[in-house]
Amino acid sequence: MSRNILVTAALPYANGPIHIGHLVEYVQADIWVRYQKLTGNDCKYICADDAHGTPIMLSARKRGIDPQQLIDEMHASHSADFRDFFVEFDIFHSTHSEENRICASKIYNRLKDGGYIARKAVAQAYDEQAKMFLPDRFVKGVCPKCESPDQYGDACEVCGATYAPLDLINPRSVLTGTKPVVRKSEHLFIELAKFETFLQSWVKDHVQPEVANKLEEWFEAGLRDWDISREAPYWGFQIPGETDKFFYVWLDAPIGYMGSHWRWCKDHGREDEFEAAWKPDSDIELVQFLGKDIAYFHTLFWPAVLHGSGHRTPTQVYCHGFLTVDGRKMSKSRGTFIAARTWLEHLDPQALRYYLASKLASGVDDIDLSLDDFVFRVNSDLVGKVVNIASRCAGILRKRYGNRLSAALDDTEMYAEFAAARTEVGERFEAREYAKAIRAITALADRTNKYIDTKAPWALCKAEDTFEEGHRVCTQGLNLFRVLITMLSPVVPKLAEDSFALLQSPLSWDGLDTPLLDAEIQKFKPLMLRVDKAHVAAVVEASKPAEPPPAPEPAAPAYAPVADTISFDEFMKVDLRVATVVEAEIIEKANKLLRLTVDLGFETRQVIAGIRKAYNPEHLIGKQVVVVANLAPRKMKFGVSEGMVIAAGPGAPDIFLLGVDNGALNGMRIK
Ligand code: MSP
Ligand code: ZN
Repeated sequence: MSRNILVTAALPYANGPIHIGHLVEYVQADIWVRYQKLTGNDCKYICADDAHGTPIMLSARKRGIDPQQLIDEMHASHSADFRDFFVEFDIFHSTHSEENRICASKIYNRLKDGGYIARKAVAQAYDEQAKMFLPDRFVKGVCPKCESPDQYGDACEVCGATYAPLDLINPRSVLTGTKPVVRKSEHLFIELAKFETFLQSWVKDHVQPEVANKLEEWFEAGLRDWDISREAPYWGFQIPGETDKFFYVWLDAPIGYMGSHWRWCKDHGREDEFEAAWKPDSDIELVQFLGKDIAYFHTLFWPAVLHGSGHRTPTQVYCHGFLTVDGRKMSKSRGTFIAARTWLEHLDPQALRYYLASKLASGVDDIDLSLDDFVFRVNSDLVGKVVNIASRCAGILRKRYGNRLSAALDDTEMYAEFAAARTEVGERFEAREYAKAIRAITALADRTNKYIDTKAPWALCKAEDTFEEGHRVCTQGLNLFRVLITMLSPVVPKLAEDSFALLQSPLSWDGLDTPLLDAEIQKFKPLMLRVDKAHVAAVVEASKPAEPPPAPEPAAPAYAPVADTISFDEFMKVDLRVATVVEAEIIEKANKLLRLTVDLGFETRQVIAGIRKAYNPEHLIGKQVVVVANLAPRKMKFGVSEGMVIAAGPGAPDIFLLGVDNGALNGMRIK
C-alpha cells in the first residue's frame, strides 16, 4: 500500500543566500523525497523562506528598502538556487503569507484557550534613539567577568560567561552606539513545563537516539517558559488581541510548514487533505529534516505547540550534522563559505549532490567535503565507473548495430540479480543511509565494467560468428546501466533524465522488472563531464572576500612595521646598560662596520656595529650609548662582537641616546 508523506526541510532565513552548508539538508531531503516518489508513494516536499525577525528588519532598514522587498528578492534568489541544484519542492512558500498568519493566530488562540500562555513583565535593554527593544546580540560592551572588551550581550566569547545584556560594563546599542536603558514590558510565554509528560513520551519514538540523549539533558535542566512575544517595532505577525506585540520569529517559523502545506492544498484543490494531514490521529506521515543546531526548536517547542493546539505531531524528526570543508568549519577567508550560486558558476550541481550522498548517513555527525576527495570520487566513481558503461556500450551499438538493442540479453540471471539489488539499495535510501546505497551501486558498477572487460564487445562485433553475441553484450551493459542509473536517479536527477532520453524509455523503479530489448536508442552524447580541479580552485578563489583596498603610500619617514609583540618577561630579559665609546675604528674591507670598544663601567667590550655609513668614528669616541649587554657573543668575519649598540635615526649625532659622557652612569641598567 502506498504511503502518504509530507516532508519538510527547515525554512532558510530570508536574509542571506543559500550556501553549500544549507544544501546538505535540502539535498538530503530531496533525495529522500525523490526516492519516495519513484517507488510510488504520495510524497510532498514542503519548504518556505523564514521571512520574519529582527535581522531581516534591520538589513532592510540598512538598505533603505521595505522588508517586503528584501524578502521578495531573497525568495527569488533562493528559488533559483534550489531549482538549479535540482532541489524540487512541491511548494516553496514564505512564512510571511496570509496562510501562515491565519495558522499562527489560530494556534496561538487555541494555546491561550488551553491555558498554556502566561504573561510576565520582562526588563529588557531599550535603545531610546532607535526606539526599540534590543535583542541580546544587539548590545555590546565589556565582559563583567573577565573585562574583555567588545562582547555581545548574551555571552562572552573570551571567558564563556553568560549574562544579561545590561550586566555588561559600559553597554552600547550596536544600532546607535548609545547606552541602552532598562525598560519593562509585558511578554507572553508558553508554559513548556506543562508539556513535559507528553514530550517525554513523544520523544521516545520520534527522534534519533543521539537527539533523544540531548533531550534527556534538556529535561533534566528543566523546561523553562518560552517567550513568544516581541515588542514593536518588529517584522512579523501581530499577536491577536494585543497591541504592539508580535510573534517571535521562532513561533511562526515552524507553523510555516503548515501554512505552506495549506497553500499547496489550496492551489491543488485539495483542502480536505490539509485537514486530514494536521488532525491529531492523521495517517499522513509528517517527516521533518533539519540541522542539529535547531533540534531544540523542533523537538520541544514545536511538538508542544502542535499538541497544545490540538494538532498532530511529527512522525519523525531527522537531524543531520554540519558541513565542514577540508575538515574545518566553512570560512569566508579560506574561501570555503561557498554560495550555491558561486558553485553553479563553475561546477556541476549534481557532482555536489553525488558527493554529499556518498557521505551522508542517518546520524548527526558532521559531513566533510574534502575538495580533493570530491574531485576523485566524482571522476573515478560516477563518471569513470557508472557513466562510462553507457559510453562504452552505446558507442559500439551505434557504430555496429544501428543504434538498436538486441532482442535478448547476454546474461538474464545477472540482470535479474541487478534488478533485485534495488530492494536493498531502496532500504538504504529509506533509512537515510545514502553512503551505503552509493557504495552498493558502485560495487555493481565495478561488476558491470569487469563483465564488459571480460566479454570485450569491441572485439566480438568484428567477427561474424561473435557478431550477435557482441550485440547482446552491449545490450546487457546498457540494461545494467539502466538499473544503476534508476537507483542513482534520486541523487543525480538530471543525469538520470539524460540517460533515459538516451535509452528512449521512462524512468521507472518497477519497470526494471523487465529489461529494455529490441528498441532503438538515441545517438550517444556525453552525459557528464569529469570535474576539473581548476574549477574547484576557481570556486574557492571566487568565495574569498574581496582584497582590501591597497593601503595608502606611507608618508615619509617610512616606519618599519612594529615587530611581533614580546611578553613583559621576555622584555625583562634584555639587559640594557649605559656605556661610553672609548675606541672606534674603521674595519678594512667592511664598508658598513665599525669596531667599537665600549666601557660598561665594570668591563669593556668589543662591539662590531653596522653604523659606519652614518658616523665618523672620531665623533663617536667619548659619547655615551645604550648597549644590550647580555646579547650572546657572536663570532663575525672580523672578530667577536660582545654586545649591541642601540642606535636610531638618520645618523650623525642623533644616535646618542644619553648624550655627552658622564662616566658616573656607565654600567647603569636601564629600566
Ligand atoms: N530559519 C531557521 C529554520 C526555521 S525552521 C522552522 C534556520 N535557518 S538557516 O538558514 O540558518 O538554516 C536552515 C537549515 O540549514 C537548518 O536546518 C540548518 O541546520 C541548515 N544549515 C545551515 N548551515 C549548515 C551547515 N553549514 N551544514 C549543514 N546544515 C546547515 O535555521
Ligand atoms: Zn569574559
